[in-house]
Amino acid sequence: MPTYVTTPIYYVNAMPHLGHAYTTIVADVYSRFRRLCGDDVRFQTGTDEHGEKIAEAAAKAGETPREYVDRIAATFRETWPLLSIQPDYIIRTTDADHVKTVQDILQQVYDKGDIYFSEYSGLYCKGCERFLTEKELVDGKCPDHQVEPKAITEQNYFFRMSKYQDWLIDHINSNPEFITPERYRNEVLSFLSEPLEDLCISRPTARLTWGIPLPFDQNFVTYVWFDALINYLTGLGYPDGPDFATYWAGAEHVIAKDILKPHAIFWPTMLRAMEIEPYKRLHVHGYWNVDATKMSKSIGNVVRPKELVDAYGVDTVRYFVLREMSFGLDSSFSGDAILARHNSDLANDLGNLFSRSLTMIDKYAAGRVPERDSATLLTPDDRELMSAVSAMVVQYCENMDAFKFHKALQAVWEVISLLNRYIVTNAPWELAKDDRLADRLHTVLYFLAESLWKITLALGPIMPATAEKMAAALGMWEQFAAAVIEDVQEWGEIPAGTVIDKGAQLFPRVDKKEAASAPVAAKPQGEKAAKAPKKPKSDQEPEPALGEGLISFDQFKAVELRVAEIVAAEKVAKSDRLLKLTVNAPEPRTIVAGIAQHYSPEALIGQRVIIVANLKPAKLMGIPSQGMVLAGKELLADGTEKLVVTTVAGDVAVGSRVA
Ligand code: MSP
Repeated sequence: MPTYVTTPIYYVNAMPHLGHAYTTIVADVYSRFRRLCGDDVRFQTGTDEHGEKIAEAAAKAGETPREYVDRIAATFRETWPLLSIQPDYIIRTTDADHVKTVQDILQQVYDKGDIYFSEYSGLYCKGCERFLTEKELVDGKCPDHQVEPKAITEQNYFFRMSKYQDWLIDHINSNPEFITPERYRNEVLSFLSEPLEDLCISRPTARLTWGIPLPFDQNFVTYVWFDALINYLTGLGYPDGPDFATYWAGAEHVIAKDILKPHAIFWPTMLRAMEIEPYKRLHVHGYWNVDATKMSKSIGNVVRPKELVDAYGVDTVRYFVLREMSFGLDSSFSGDAILARHNSDLANDLGNLFSRSLTMIDKYAAGRVPERDSATLLTPDDRELMSAVSAMVVQYCENMDAFKFHKALQAVWEVISLLNRYIVTNAPWELAKDDRLADRLHTVLYFLAESLWKITLALGPIMPATAEKMAAALGMWEQFAAAVIEDVQEWGEIPAGTVIDKGAQLFPRVDKKEAASAPVAAKPQGEKAAKAPKKPKSDQEPEPALGEGLISFDQFKAVELRVAEIVAAEKVAKSDRLLKLTVNAPEPRTIVAGIAQHYSPEALIGQRVIIVANLKPAKLMGIPSQGMVLAGKELLADGTEKLVVTTVAGDVAVGSRVA
């Protein structure tokens, strides 16, 4: 079934921040998911460029509205590729075809008698660009903008929204999925339990000229919401374009709760007046907050998507927002949370599993996916894995369809943990020691490869670049582009003999210091900006004498740091702290390292670490140790510390000197 996915069209009075990015990432992920289901999808985003707010922002910037909207619309358009967001169409409400569609629709609804002229007195909030009812005010103020609305009496045009109230209530009641999650459906039904007022849909040109002129009265421009909502039709070439006929029935709008009322009440009643079927589903999410306050330009506490992408990479940002927010509820942004998700879920759980598995296929099966031994029976482990993968597919699909992205990801991560356990229980490094166990070894490696392929497909919509890397490393690059969800359900997808590439490192760890240099949220206005780092003094200044704790460059050069590959690891008898490692640097040597409580021996095999190569040999528990493996400390969420060995990014030769 064709699907039409939309985001709100964003006001161009602010630069894009994480809130805008979130909605648009969600729409992109959902579009990619539907394509993975084999559906024909059209995905649209855009910018909302008319109205008082924009006219004011342009005047403030000293630009004409046209110059101003062109400039800011471009920043939105340029942000999407940085987030791997690929809309099929980006609409602007200043586009000529949109202006014409809005005018045609106004004329049609006016001719039908659903628009009339009248005088109105009401409380107007400029931030919302609409009249508020007394009931909506909190302490006499608009709850979203914290300002008292202005009492205005004006002659204007009105849309007979009240006429469609009963129909709308019926429609919501008989279509439980029309507005989701349920809390927002209930909120709308509760609002509709009071009589609905008609909607003012014009602004006098005496007050505002930056809008679409009403076709039947040039003294008025169209109210920005009546203009904006119609973008969803213009983008499909309504009324005659083939895309409208194809996609409208599958329309799914994604928004945050701030614009629930226009989407759940104005829009369906407008569609009804136009005699167009209502959209299929409205998905409503909560706010990204910083310190319990909604992230917004007017407060100045915004997180810029580009800064996060620069610090963590685009796929971490996409994963983080989907994993961290329960769709529908508010979520708080924190730099520590994204750092922890990156290092723990991505670098550790997924990244290590992937590189470990490929390293073993490389080593024990000559770099080719082996054949599964069909002659011997499956072990309970194999069966558990197969049924867990099947359950993952079902849960993944159900949750992705229901916009419960965090749950879909949890289902994938359960299998990732299971695979890590599967490796430990089946110990391929032990099987490899005995030729008679070769069939079992191959079966285990086959199950690893095939499960990773299924994980790759499931992660594709969420982390497209990572999934591409994984597919390429698994030798499944060509199959990846054409993959559909059925491929995740079938076993036996990777042909025996497929050549893998063990080189891929998916997520280099980010250390806290690096991450801390990435601005997390701009300081709220009014607060003192962080002190700028001191400027370096001029080049001519004499070198300062070495202070306490400082070493000279020559002293540093005396320490021989080298890249070493761990080729064997085992526990040291009677010690719960020590592991005996054999490393190549490039010649083999033994190093005893105090990391047994932080790593299982097999997790270390294949890792490239940095060692101090010229340390005086020492005996530890009777074993001569020739060097030291460098490690850092990671602070875990439960307050304990974990040692993490230093690894190298990129394909640095084993034995090469680190300087
Ligand atoms: N122009 C209207 C929408 C018209 S749609 C026909 C508008 N624009 S907006 O620029 O204010 O965008 C609001 C939307 O931006 C929210 O509904 C949400 O999608 C996103 N977000 C803006 N700030 C946000 C948060 N702090 N948290 C989550 N989403 C946020 O309203």
